[in-house]
Amino acid sequence: MRCIECGARYAAGERIYFCPRCGGLLDVEYERDRAEALKPFSTSFKERPLSVWRYRELLPIGNESRIISLNEGGTGLIRCRNLERELGLREVYCKNEGENPTGSFKDRGMTVGVTKAVELGARTTICASTGNTSSSLAAYSAKAGLECVVLVPAGKIALGKLSQAVIHGAKVIAVRGGFDDCLRLVRELSKDRRFYLLNSINPFRIEGQKTAAFEIYEQLGGVPDNLFIPIGNAGNITAYWKGFKELKELGLTDRLPRFMGVQAEGASPIYRAFIKGSDEVKPFGRVETVATAIRIGNPVNWKRALRSVRETGGRVGAVSDEEILEAQRILASKEGIFAEPASAASIAFLIKAAREKLIDRDSRSVCVITGHGLKDPDVVLRRVRLREVDADVESVLEAIGGVSEKAAVTLR
Ligand code: F0G
Repeated sequence: MRCIECGARYAAGERIYFCPRCGGLLDVEYERDRAEALKPFSTSFKERPLSVWRYRELLPIGNESRIISLNEGGTGLIRCRNLERELGLREVYCKNEGENPTGSFKDRGMTVGVTKAVELGARTTICASTGNTSSSLAAYSAKAGLECVVLVPAGKIALGKLSQAVIHGAKVIAVRGGFDDCLRLVRELSKDRRFYLLNSINPFRIEGQKTAAFEIYEQLGGVPDNLFIPIGNAGNITAYWKGFKELKELGLTDRLPRFMGVQAEGASPIYRAFIKGSDEVKPFGRVETVATAIRIGNPVNWKRALRSVRETGGRVGAVSDEEILEAQRILASKEGIFAEPASAASIAFLIKAAREKLIDRDSRSVCVITGHGLKDPDVVLRRVRLREVDADVESVLEAIGGVSEKAAVTLR
């Protein structure tokens, strides 16, 4: 592991999350044989299906380790022709991470992170979470037979996510405060070696999550021109950046996608720094957004997020709650993909980028749909009232109102 600030190096077997010398975040680096590292890319999908562990030569896990897996990764890359038509873009895809076992991209990081926890002999895992991290860590810890503690902001976590953490047997602690308070607390608690920390500070999480970039490369037969991705604590954008850079280092591509990171307006410290051209991200004290997954004011990975965007000629955008909910509705009703609000932020930014001509209409865009819409059903149902009718055909037809002629014929 190498410190991103001072460059100090540490063995992957050391149980540290930050550079003991300067407190910087750590990156996993490999001394590897190129032919070995290229193996996954020349292996048939029949032999090794598309999944996180397809890329095991590129992951920092020993051959003898007990792999804790729920069959994560291998998610669809779905062509969105209706969106393309509507926005006047040539090629748009969604990387549908809602297909993962617990319904979000976090499972990619947790299969590697929890495997590492077991390798290191940890007994109890811990994380702070806006929801999905806690669902995923709870499930993988259950599978591994580890105890799990999760700290979540009281009253600010979506119902689906909370129910997952509870049923998988985690000790769920609702903290009076936001995600940033929860993260501060788990950082403090993990100085006690009884707790193994699995937030995206943990470099092994990033390693698992980078496999999504490898999959996109294999599914598209190359790298996309633009990558639209929501930013919360900025771990996932860091992971994609690392994944695409590794593809380049391996000589599989000579370019990177433009990174189009997006935050919710009410929690957009990285966006502020980006538009000011500043190298410092000033935390937001108060944050509010309907996209509770990315309701974060002090993103720990901000430095790498800004670098990924600047080095690839991309941008950071911010979208309002209205834009997020509208994008969620469009994606669900035009493409059949139900994304949770944080994930719909990437579509909201795509829509904005198309309208404001921030991307070339002939370019190829991939939007990362980070989590399934069923995680947060309240956000949809709050806006509708179901109409009840009597149980007879006339009442039902009347309630249906107008239908197209073609459909009406089949109805009769
Ligand atoms: N989308 C969803 C659905 C998320 O749950 C998160 C983060 C993000 C995007 C942003 O990813 O933090 O790596 O930049 N959720 C974390 C959690 C914070 O606790 O579940 P990021």
